[in-house]
Amino acid sequence: MSEAEATIREARVEEREAVFRLLLLAEPSAGALRWSLKNLSDTTFVLEQGGRLAGAATVRFRRDPCEIVELAVAEGTQGHGLGRLLVARLVEEARARGKREIFVGTRSTSVGNIIFYQKCGFRVHDVRPDYFWYYDEPAYEHGLLVRDMIVFRHDLSEG
Ligand SMILES: CC(C)(COP(=O)(O)OP(=O)(O)OC[C@H]1O[C@@H](n2cnc3c(N)ncnc32)[C@H](O)[C@@H]1OP(=O)(O)O)[C@@H](O)C(=O)NCCC(=O)NCCS
Repeated sequence: MSEAEATIREARVEEREAVFRLLLLAEPSAGALRWSLKNLSDTTFVLEQGGRLAGAATVRFRRDPCEIVELAVAEGTQGHGLGRLLVARLVEEARARGKREIFVGTRSTSVGNIIFYQKCGFRVHDVRPDYFWYYDEPAYEHGLLVRDMIVFRHDLSEG
C-alpha cells in the first residue's frame, strides 16, 4: 500500500478509544497518557490507510511552545513512510497556524526515534533530565534505564 492512499484528519470523538490504544505505543503508561491528553495536548490527528486507523498524533497548538506530544504508527504499518507523512502534516498545520517552531521529545534511549525525527527535519534542541520519573516501574531500552528526554525543534521559517 502506498503513502498516497493515506489520509490525515482530526480525530472524531467516537474514535477516542481506538486512538488511545494506538497512542499507548508512544506513551505506555495509560495513566500518564490520560493525563497528557487532558493537560498537554489540544488536537488529535489520525492517519487512515485503506479505511483503517494506521497512525495518530496529539499536538499542542493553543499554547506555546507548540509541541507534538504523542505520535504513533500502528505496528504492522511502521517503516513505510507513514510516520514521516504524519509529521509533515503536523508541521504544515503548525505553519498554517502561524507558529515559528514546533518541538517534540523522545526518550534518550529510543535511538530509532532519534534518527526518525532528524529525518523529519527536526534538530536536537535540549534535554529534559529525569522527565520519565513518573513511570510506575523502571523501564529499560537497549539495556539503559529510561530517564531523560531529548527535545527536538523544527524551525518553521526554514523550507
Ligand atoms: C517512530 C514512528 C512514529 C516512526 O514511524 P514510521 O512510519 O515507522 O517511520 P517512517 O517509515 O515514516 O520513517 C521515516 C524515516 O525515518 C527512518 N526511521 C524510522 N524509524 C526508524 C528506526 N527505528 N531506526 C532507524 N531509522 C528509522 C526511516 O528509515 C525513514 O528514513 P528514510 O526515509 O531515509 O528511509 C513509529 O516507529 C512508531 O510509531 N513507533 C512506536 C511509537 C513511538 O515510539 N512513537 C514516538 C514516541 S516520541
